[in-house]
Amino acid sequence: MRFIFIGPPGAGKGTVAKILSRRFSIPHISTGDLLRAHIQQKSELGRQAVAYVEQGKLVPDGLVIEMVRERLKETDASQGFILDGFPRTVEQAEALGKLLREEEILVEHILNFDASNAKIIERLSGRRICSKCGEIYHVRNIPPKKEGLCDRCGGELIQRKDDSEDTVRRRLEVYRKETAPLIDYYNRARLLKDLPADLEVAELNPILDQLLK
Ligand code: AP5
Repeated sequence: MRFIFIGPPGAGKGTVAKILSRRFSIPHISTGDLLRAHIQQKSELGRQAVAYVEQGKLVPDGLVIEMVRERLKETDASQGFILDGFPRTVEQAEALGKLLREEEILVEHILNFDASNAKIIERLSGRRICSKCGEIYHVRNIPPKKEGLCDRCGGELIQRKDDSEDTVRRRLEVYRKETAPLIDYYNRARLLKDLPADLEVAELNPILDQLLK
């Protein structure tokens, strides 16, 4: 099974990706996570990307497209994947389309996470992520069993640097300007399915079952 997830910051793409990744045993490929790992490792790509990520701007298309091309070649992606946060521009969508055609890969589901601004702000201000395994929590909606610690690996829970109020505002602007046009792009090809992303996770599960039939 192959998925592409599109949606504004904080809409819950990563949260749903982790659920489906476990359900279908396919990798969750988040370009945000990949970039943060490069930044942490201080790789050449990380060095080039850090200022963009910290300011909530998009990393240049060429760098991200190449990173995804390499990631999709890895063996764990051969039977399926969830692309979370890519594509994010029409140029990225066109590059991905070309790559998929060349490799004769069919993406079955493109989900549009439709979330309101109020939800996005509430979710991002309470988000905590595990510094070790990347599991996603929310201080009220999806709290860990022990405050500040990951249920899965015991790692310390932290706030993402780009979840500060100013940077979230910038990320939302960038989403509207550069990523929202993809909704039309995929709608024209009749490929997009809308997910009412304001709903709680438990309410989303039956809707996902329905969409994935
Ligand atoms: P990235 O990491 O992709 O961030 P994003 O798209 O802004 O999305 P988020 O990770 O913030 O949100 P999400 O939708 O995954 O929500 P989550 O599930 O965590 O990108 C970061 C940066 O990297 C970009 O700004 C850019 O610089 C760069 N970058 C990445 N990809 C790029 C690309 N393709 N091109 C160029 N640059 C790129 O949930 C949020 C919170 O809500 C959590 O606390 C969660 O517990 C809670 N929650 C989630 N769902 C629910 C629910 N249904 N009910 C209740 N609570 C929920």
